[in-house]
Amino acid sequence: MSIYDSIGGEAAVSAAVDDFYKRVLADPSLTGYFEDIDVARLKGHQRAFIGAALGGPARYNGRPMAKAHEGLGITPDDFGRVVGHLVDTLDSLGVPSETIGRIGDTLAPLQQDIAPGRA
Ligand code: HEM
Repeated sequence: MSIYDSIGGEAAVSAAVDDFYKRVLADPSLTGYFEDIDVARLKGHQRAFIGAALGGPARYNGRPMAKAHEGLGITPDDFGRVVGHLVDTLDSLGVPSETIGRIGDTLAPLQQDIAPGRA
């Protein structure tokens, strides 16, 4: 069974995206990144992306991660904060910690595209 099915499929992903966005936008370190972004549109993309990252049927057809985040100046710390909010969201929805760990492992390699930091 995919992680997507094990957390409850589309309904669980929708609940997770809503809760995740509340947490991210309430974090003073992160609000600046999202000031000029249409959150409804971003949520739609996040839903598709998270669903796909968890092995669900939804396909993500947007820009590659490096392109989508280019020029935003996202720091590795802020990447970690966003992933931390996702972990808190999944935890609050009762997703088992072993499953959350697997999701974290899936997302961690994206840091090099999203928040390359400085060499
Ligand atoms: C695992 C981590 C992340 C994933 C899976 C992810 C996923 C996405 C996706 C799917 C989009 C939409 C791309 C598009 O419209 O073509 C997006 C856009 C965006 N992301 Fe992320 N993201 C992640 C981390 C972050 C972090 C850490 C930040 C900021 C701290 C961030 C800020 C943004 C912003 C501001 C946009 C909108 C860019 C624009 O439309 O110009 N993302 N992200």
